[in-house]
Amino acid sequence: MGASYEKTYRQSITDPERFWADVAGSLNWMRRWDRVLSADKPPFSRWFEGGILNTCYNVLDRHVEGGRGNQPALIYDSPVTSTIRVYRYRELLDAVARCAGGLARLGVTKGDRVVIYMPMVPEAVIGMLACSRLGAIHSVVFGGFAPRELATRIEDAKPKVVLSSSCGIEIARVIPYKPLLDAAIGMCAWKPEACVIVQRPEHRVELTPGRDIAWDSLMDSEPAPCTPVFATDPLYILYTSGTTGKPKGVVRDNGGHLVALSWTMRNLYGVEPGEVYWAASDIGWVVGHSYIVYGPLAYGCTTVLYEGKSVGTPDPGAFWRVIDEHHVSVLFCAPTAFRAIRREDPEAKFVKRYRMPSFRTLFLAGERCDPETLRWAEQVLQVPVIDHWWQTETGWAIGANCIGLGQFPVKPGSCTKPVPGYEIAVFDSGGKPVPAGTQGNIAVRLPLPPGCFTTLWQNDADFIKTYFSTYPGWYFTADAGMIDKDGYLWIMGRTDDIINVAGHRLSTGAMEEVLSSHPDVAESAVAGVHDPVKAEIPVGFVVLKAGRKRDPLDLEHELVKMVRERIGPIASFKEVLVVSRLPKTRSGKILRGTIKKIADGTSYTIPATIDDPVILEEIRMALGQKGFPKR
Ligand code: COA
Ligand code: AMP
Repeated sequence: MGASYEKTYRQSITDPERFWADVAGSLNWMRRWDRVLSADKPPFSRWFEGGILNTCYNVLDRHVEGGRGNQPALIYDSPVTSTIRVYRYRELLDAVARCAGGLARLGVTKGDRVVIYMPMVPEAVIGMLACSRLGAIHSVVFGGFAPRELATRIEDAKPKVVLSSSCGIEIARVIPYKPLLDAAIGMCAWKPEACVIVQRPEHRVELTPGRDIAWDSLMDSEPAPCTPVFATDPLYILYTSGTTGKPKGVVRDNGGHLVALSWTMRNLYGVEPGEVYWAASDIGWVVGHSYIVYGPLAYGCTTVLYEGKSVGTPDPGAFWRVIDEHHVSVLFCAPTAFRAIRREDPEAKFVKRYRMPSFRTLFLAGERCDPETLRWAEQVLQVPVIDHWWQTETGWAIGANCIGLGQFPVKPGSCTKPVPGYEIAVFDSGGKPVPAGTQGNIAVRLPLPPGCFTTLWQNDADFIKTYFSTYPGWYFTADAGMIDKDGYLWIMGRTDDIINVAGHRLSTGAMEEVLSSHPDVAESAVAGVHDPVKAEIPVGFVVLKAGRKRDPLDLEHELVKMVRERIGPIASFKEVLVVSRLPKTRSGKILRGTIKKIADGTSYTIPATIDDPVILEEIRMALGQKGFPKR
C-alpha cells in the first residue's frame, strides 16, 4: 500500500525537473521549453520557460483532434432552472472559438484582462476558455460578492471587457446581476470598454447603450484560432481574501498549471479520460477553476457544472441524482455540503433511492473536515472518502491521499500526506522545525511545484512579504498543523484572520473594516464561531463611541445590512453583540482567539497578558443570550 506513492513522491522531490518534464511531454507544445525550471530569482519559480503552448488548445482542440469530439465535455445540470444541457467536446470547442472571435472583435488581445461576474451557467466556462484561447487573462469574481468587492477587483485588474449575466438564481430567489454590475462600475475610476450580458429567461434586462452587448450577438462571430502564449504567461488572476479588506490577486501561469492539473487527474483523483468528474463548487473559487474547468477537460474527462446547492432543491437527494444520472466517478465538494445533507436526511433515506454504480470516490476540501462527517459519508456512500488540503495560492492539493498512487488508511480529521511536488515542514515561530506530533506553522520548501501562483497581480512586493519573508526559502501557508509519527499531515486551522464559512474563504479583517466605518462604532472585532453546518460563521463584537446610545437590535440590523451590501451575502454575517469593551492584551492586541473559545464553549485559560479579565464574563453572558455555543 502506498509503495507507488513513496517512489513517486521521492522522485518529485529529488529530481523535480525530470519528474514534471515527463508529465509535460503528454501535452501539446507549439515550442518546447528551454528550461524546465528557472528558480534563480527566488521566491519566483518559472516553470517551462521558453515553452509556447495554448491552454484552450490543450483542453479542447487536442481532444477533438484525438477523437473525443462526440464525448460530452460539459454537463450543465441546473435544478434551479430545471435544465440539463450537454456540450460535446466539438460543441464546446465551437462555442469557445466563436466567443473568442467575439471578444477579439471587441479588441481583446493577448494579455488583456476580462472580468467574469457570472452565475453557474455554461457561458461562464465558455468565457473563461475563450480568454485562454486568445491569451487574455480572465478574472472570475464569485457572484455572491457585493458591488464593492467586484469594484475592487475591476479597479485592480483593469479589464477591457466584463462578461456578466442578467441574473443568478439561488434556489427559489432570482438575483438581478445587472444592478450589481452597474453599481460596481459606477464606483470604479477604471471603466471597461464593453460589458457582455447573458440574458437569462428568468429575468431579462435593458442593456446600457454604448456599453453593453448581448451574449448572443457576441457569439455571432467567426471562430478565433488559438493564440500562442509562453508557458510563463498569466492564464488568470483569482482574487482571494487577505488579512486586510484588499483582496490578493493570485496569478496562475499557463504551462505549469496545465501540467500540474493534468497530473492530478489520474494520480490524485484516480480518474481516467472519458470518465465523469464533478466538483460541486463554484467557478468563482479556485476549486471551480481547477476542477470544474481546467483539470477534467485537460485530461479528456467530462465535467459537471451544477447550478444548485446540496440541499434546499426540490429533490433532497439532489447530489445522488446527479451522480446517478450522469454516471459520475468522482465527486469533490466541501464537508459543509455533507453536513447540510446529513442534517436534512440523517438516515440517508434519499441515498438509497439511487444506485450510483459508477461512483468510486468522494473528495473533500476547502475547510477542516470533522471526523463525524467523514465517517457518515463513508457509511452512507460505501466509497473511500478522501480529505485533501489546498489553497487558492497553490491551485491544487498540497496534502492528500493520492488514490491513483495507492490509497493509505484514512485517518479522519483533516489529515493527509504530502502530495508529490510539495516538500512540507512544520516550524515553530522562531523558524525551528518542530518534532513529530507537535503543532506549528506549516511551510512548503521552494521551489513550489508547477501550477502554484507565480506572483500577486502587479504586486511582487506583497507576494514576497506575505508568503516568503517569515521562513526564508519556504512558502508560509498560514495554516497551523503537525506531522505525526506516520508521516501524516494534520491541518488545524489558519494562523491569520481568515475564516472558512461553508467552505468559503473570508477575511474577518475586511468585516471589521465595515463595522468600524459605522458612525456609532468606536471599535470592533469579528470572530469565526463554530456553526454545525457552515463550520464557522462570523460574529461581530462592537463597542459604541462614548456617549452613543443604540438599541442593540437596531444596530445589529444596520451592521448586518452594511456587511451584506459591502462584502456580500456570502459572508453569512448575521450576528452582532454590543459590548462595553473588547478583551485585549496589555499591549492592545484584541484576543479574538479567546472570544472564539468562549463562543464555541471550548475550555480556555485567561491569558496572562489580558488587561482586564472581567470583560470575558460579560462576553460569555452576551453570547449565551444569543444562543451560543451552537451545537
Ligand atoms: N450569488 C448571490 N448570492 C449567493 C451566491 C451567489 N452566487 N451564493 C450564495 N449566495 C448567498 C446565499 O443565497 C445566502 O444568502 P442568504 O443569507 O440570503 O440566505 C448566502 O449567500 C450564504 O450562502 P451559502 O454559504 O451558500 O449558504 P446557504 O445557506 O445558501 O447554503 C450550503 C449552505 C452548505 C448548502 C451551501 O453553502 C453548499 O452547498 N456549500 C457547498 C459549497 C462547496 O462545496 N464549496 C466548495 C468550496 S471548496
Ligand atoms: P481557499 O484558498 O479558499 O481554498 O482556502 C484555503 C484554506 O482553506 C486553507 O488555508 C485552509 O485553512 C482551508 N482548507 C482547505 N482545505 C482544507 C482541508 N482539507 N482541511 C482543513 N482546512 C482546509
